[in-house]
Amino acid sequence: MTIQYQNIVPWGRSFQEYVDMFDLTDKDMNRSIIGCGDGPASFNFEMTRQGKSVISVDPVYNFYRETIQQRINETYSEVLEQTRANQDKFLWGNISSVEELGNIRMASMKLFLEDFEEGKKQGRYVAGELPELPFSDNAFDLALVSHLLFLYSEQLSFDFHIRAIDELLRIAGEVRIFPLLDLNSRKSIHLDEVIGSLLSRGFVVHEKKVNYEFQKGGNTMLVIAHP
Ligand SMILES: C[S@@+](CC[C@H](N)C(=O)[O-])C[C@H]1O[C@@H](n2cnc3c(N)ncnc32)[C@H](O)[C@@H]1O
Repeated sequence: MTIQYQNIVPWGRSFQEYVDMFDLTDKDMNRSIIGCGDGPASFNFEMTRQGKSVISVDPVYNFYRETIQQRINETYSEVLEQTRANQDKFLWGNISSVEELGNIRMASMKLFLEDFEEGKKQGRYVAGELPELPFSDNAFDLALVSHLLFLYSEQLSFDFHIRAIDELLRIAGEVRIFPLLDLNSRKSIHLDEVIGSLLSRGFVVHEKKVNYEFQKGGNTMLVIAHP
């Protein structure tokens, strides 16, 4: 059994998961951050509540709250069903069961949904999509990409990955991407070639171990910085 989604699914993680996935320190959290592909994660809401500055960009922000909610409801059972059928690909530690996973994700997505209209008015949720983002050069210190690049390696080509990462490096001083595995917990087929391309163009790249692992073996992020 493999995990296969027709589209990239709207699925939202919490502030603490972002902190762990991206090894965010207090210093990092005081930098200006762009969360690319944040979708219905509650990271933006929870950071804003603490007085921090985050802008999230995602194509799903083109839609009204009700439409996003509907899309979440439609995909929710499918994601849980596919996870249940592929339980061996995950580490059931902090999250102990598929049911608990569903509850945790729904709690984060609910926080997002409640914040969405207000956050959109405040310019914290911006509609846009890789590989071209509506921001000026060097607009941010740090770009975070969770569960989009590398994870959807079958749907997103090598060329797309390069264009997307170049675009993130245009708008931010540093880019962090997590995870480096595909949907079926295998190392992304694009990873080595992407790293090779970045290194050959002088970027500083390293794979860093983090204190987060839900997909088995998915406990590293890619950190890319300008020379
Ligand atoms: C699996 S969700 C991850 C959400 C969040 N980052 C998290 O980890 O909880 C993937 C998100 O990527 C967004 N997405 C899809 N294509 C995108 C693109 N070309 N540029 C930016 N975001 C995109 C989707 O709308 C969706 O919200």
